[in-house]
Amino acid sequence: MKISVIGAGNVGASVALKICEKELAEEVVLVDIVEGVPQGKALDILQAMPLNGSNARITGTNDYSQIKDSGIVVVTAGVPRKPGMTREDLINVNAGITKAIAAHIKANAPDSIVIVVTNPLDVMAYLMMKETGFDKKRVIGMAGVLDSARFRTFIALETGDKVEDIEAMVLGGHGDSMVPLAEHIKIKGEPINDVLEKEKVDQLVKRTKDGGAEIVKFLKTGSAFYAPAASVVEMVESIINEDDKILPCSVYLNGEYGYEDIFLGVPVKLGPEGIKEIVMLELSDEEHDLLDNSAEEVKKTISVLK
Ligand code: NAI
Ligand code: 2OP
Repeated sequence: MKISVIGAGNVGASVALKICEKELAEEVVLVDIVEGVPQGKALDILQAMPLNGSNARITGTNDYSQIKDSGIVVVTAGVPRKPGMTREDLINVNAGITKAIAAHIKANAPDSIVIVVTNPLDVMAYLMMKETGFDKKRVIGMAGVLDSARFRTFIALETGDKVEDIEAMVLGGHGDSMVPLAEHIKIKGEPINDVLEKEKVDQLVKRTKDGGAEIVKFLKTGSAFYAPAASVVEMVESIINEDDKILPCSVYLNGEYGYEDIFLGVPVKLGPEGIKEIVMLELSDEEHDLLDNSAEEVKKTISVLK
């Protein structure tokens, strides 16, 4: 397996490091537009491998022909937001970058599965699919895995339970309208209403929705990258191992959940062909209304592209 990571910034370099540490690919290629940055970071990552007992080989480059025949391409290139900005504020700059990268992927890695990370996520994933012309199964946006990990973190901090005992999922667009599924939270298999008051759960939902902004406010010059990188790697592992984990990912919907021609976060199973299955969850009326609202918001942003 060869995996390429486009964008050697905070998220991209962290993804490349984790992939090499876990030896998920024999060959990793890190690409960036800035000369020297992917080369230097790749060499640094490579030199950490003896300490990890990993024989993964990573190279850094500015030349897209090096991504040739990649099985997976992770796209993290683009600008991150600054305090006060929404993810949607990034659309103009990042759409140009995503279009250019789509052309390189189409030319050099036409059979790859593309994991899109660049924001605004659902719109950039949509653009990637349209520009590459790839089958909808092979373009997947990363967001729900991250937002759900944040949700589980905040629940665990509140209840003191182990994170592995907490099931929680966030669907919808990766923006302020995302939908943490409060009614589906389970702790050791039991509904959360037995453990926490509704008001408390509402606070956890709100903190999850603001999870990215909370970090941007601290960092001031960029956005989160450790948890985003771990989320990408969770998806890569699921693709490679076909472990049938149910992961919320932004995928192209053609009628599923009642939505058409949109990328939106829903639960899926991944495998070597990309999206194996879109899992249909039973949502309450309130959850469905929230998802409708989120889909509307994503559609509005997609319409800016058209
Ligand atoms: P960063 O600024 O650290 O890195 C971005 C990198 O992209 C830079 O090294 C830059 O030189 C490179 N780049 C820009 N144009 C390029 C091009 N045409 N070709 C190749 N490389 C190019 O930003 P960071 O923190 O890594 O974030 C990257 C993107 O991921 C942002 O849009 C951010 O909003 C998004 N993001 C999305 C998340 C999600 O949940 N979907 C989570 C975290 C970040
Ligand atoms: C996040 O949620 C910036 O979208 C990124 O942290």
